[in-house]
Amino acid sequence: MVCLGNICRSPLAEGILKSKLAEDQFMVNSAGTEAYHTGKPPDPRSIDIAAKNGIDISHQSARKFVADDFRKFDKILVMDRSNLSNLKQMALTEQDKSKISLLIENNEVPDPYYGNPDDFKKVFDLIDQACQQLADQLQSTKR
Ligand code: 4NP
Repeated sequence: MVCLGNICRSPLAEGILKSKLAEDQFMVNSAGTEAYHTGKPPDPRSIDIAAKNGIDISHQSARKFVADDFRKFDKILVMDRSNLSNLKQMALTEQDKSKISLLIENNEVPDPYYGNPDDFKKVFDLIDQACQQLADQLQSTKR
């Protein structure tokens, strides 16, 4: 799960998707395309909306996406088109590129950083819905 800063959207996406999948079957992680907040915990507003929905993301620590992530992960899901274009530029092979897609097909998870708690709730709901569909798909392919 990738966004810009890895403190608002992608930590939520990591926590939400993890909560819907069997821990021993899938590796879920998140990163940002920029290193502005490396080593910091998620934004308190993301921690808060996750906690209100029974998910603890407070232990996460921001990191920048690295080229090796293309090797480690089968799917790289980005929050917006800017993330998409940044990662496509980092991709070295067609296989790397083929792993990247928007978390929500043809739509974006808007950046809530300069927004208010209600924007974080909207972001949570958007990500939750997308992760439910994704978890259903992933689990049906494992069966
Ligand atoms: P995120 O939100 O990409 O969802 O983590 C942002 C976090 C920080 C900044 C921008 C967006 N920033 O400019 O520092």
